[in-house]
Amino acid sequence: MAKISLTGIKPTGNPHIGNYFGMYKPAIALTEKYLGLYFVADLHAITTTPDRHELQDLIYEVAACWLALGLDPEKSIFFRQSDVPEIPELTWYLSCLTPKGLMNRAHAYKAAVETNTSSDRDPDDGINMGLYNYPVLMAADILLYNSDVVPVGLDQKQHIEIARDIAQNFNRQYGKTLKVPEGVIDEAMHSIPGIDGRKMSKSYGNTLPIFASDNALRKQVMRIVTDSRRPEEPKDPDSDNLYQIFRLFATPERLAEVREAYLRGGLGYAVLKEELYETMLVYFGPARETYNALMADRPHLDRLLKAGAEKARAIGKPVLARVRKAAGIDI
Ligand code: TRP
Repeated sequence: MAKISLTGIKPTGNPHIGNYFGMYKPAIALTEKYLGLYFVADLHAITTTPDRHELQDLIYEVAACWLALGLDPEKSIFFRQSDVPEIPELTWYLSCLTPKGLMNRAHAYKAAVETNTSSDRDPDDGINMGLYNYPVLMAADILLYNSDVVPVGLDQKQHIEIARDIAQNFNRQYGKTLKVPEGVIDEAMHSIPGIDGRKMSKSYGNTLPIFASDNALRKQVMRIVTDSRRPEEPKDPDSDNLYQIFRLFATPERLAEVREAYLRGGLGYAVLKEELYETMLVYFGPARETYNALMADRPHLDRLLKAGAEKARAIGKPVLARVRKAAGIDI
């Protein structure tokens, strides 16, 4: 059987070019060599109990996003996490072998505790068990299908390590049952600058969204922060934010010309911003069209997701059966 590449994305809305280059693009590229199991991580999303209508919208948005950016649901298995009931069941078996101390050290939980203590609240104020167990649920996502590789962003590195620890614990306790997966993290792709020069991140409000309206995208591009050099002055491409973003989209020939013009002087930032905007529209044009068409046909998305879940379950069920047997539950 083909090796498996698995990843999930939490439905949080407004995917941006940092997500694209850091995560969607490399994950989709892996489906050339691996069987891709890619899903919408809606069970993870409810750890923050969002508004249920908003959550529904976000689920469709992220599903449409995967497909619009090039995931082929015929070649890969594309589904919604909550359509696979084997996931929460496996989560329980794994929870029973996971030391509580391992969860105490998880970054997201630790950060929430630190926020509480620094503002004089109870350390666990507002923290639910879903947030606390988040890494075990994620381990179940990965381990249910004997995944080989897991492409993720740098922020998920610790979660992958925890999933590996959990698999190893299980195998030590019950004999070799689960495959220990490898994370695939392209560190170079995680330094994509935002419009203010800091790392691009939704929490900084410095993103260039892929599926925003033309106007909204143009506005963000125009807000890219540069120094105050005038058009005729020479500029330093390597320390300039705008250039660093432009290079992600330009052809090698055009990039070489722009680099020349930077060093020589004569190219103004405003002109290059306009070109960047136009280039991005072309680059993401087909994806933006597909996205809008998919968002207009939710029943179609539902059908695709359901069909994918059946395929995913067919792979996961035998693994879960082995886990049950190993744990002595299946007599
Ligand atoms: N935690 C991931 C995120 O926040 C989403 C996710 C859930 C995931 N399950 C996964 C990623 C399994 C990789 C593998 O984006």
